[in-house]
Amino acid sequence: MARGLFITLEGIDGCGKSTHARLLARWLRRKGFSVLCTDEPTDGLVGRTIKRILKGKLHVPVEVEVFLFSADRAWHLANVILPALERGWVVINERYVGSSLAYQTARGASERLVRKANALAANPDLAFFIDVSPEVAAKRVRRDRKPDEFERDTELQRRVRQGYLRQVRRGELRYVDGNRSKEEIQAEIREAVEKKLRSTCLSGRQKAGT
Ligand code: ADP
Ligand code: TYD
Repeated sequence: MARGLFITLEGIDGCGKSTHARLLARWLRRKGFSVLCTDEPTDGLVGRTIKRILKGKLHVPVEVEVFLFSADRAWHLANVILPALERGWVVINERYVGSSLAYQTARGASERLVRKANALAANPDLAFFIDVSPEVAAKRVRRDRKPDEFERDTELQRRVRQGYLRQVRRGELRYVDGNRSKEEIQAEIREAVEKKLRSTCLSGRQKAGT
């Protein structure tokens, strides 16, 4: 596979993914790494259709949702993520296969279908699940902006959280307790990233294009 490091951040809406992507990127850049922060759904052709669904402007069966998210992901991998990894960059992606496994199964799709639709997606080197209760997350989201269709549904958020916890039990996601201060959470994430960087021999001096 590629030379860089592929990190994903997962969790229910408002758990702190953007906050920790930003803090982690800043820290890695200071160490000399080239970092790409990106997220799903994307602003590509399929991603834009997904965003219309999230705004409640378009309704499709959940099986179609599964394929839309996996198609958007395939586009994202081919055009954004893999080229950056091949150049040796650290890629921090907010949401990935873990989101489809958590959200689309919570919305009624079978786990088998989600796994099949995502069978070709590259595995991340590190995948974090930032866990907060739906109540805490909803309060954080409301402070910031208008919630989307999925965010308004607290019962859905509860099932999504259970879906994430199943992935943690399988060893697919690394559990991070999100009910602490930003500083404590970020320290735990950095420690795991540092360990991974050491084991993959990617050092701060190995910058983009070198
Ligand atoms: P997400 O990207 O998962 O939707 P954000 O990073 O946008 O979440 O965080 C949502 C809100 O919660 C923001 O206002 C952010 O500053 C705040 N926040 C994030 N992490 C924490 C934390 N550990 N404690 C308190 N507030 C937090
Ligand atoms: P996100 O962009 O994280 O929302 P925001 O920026 O508003 O916090 O994600 C949008 C929504 O898409 C979120 O509710 C989760 C959902 N989603 C899925 O249902 N399946 C997926 O595979 C992905 C990537 C996201």
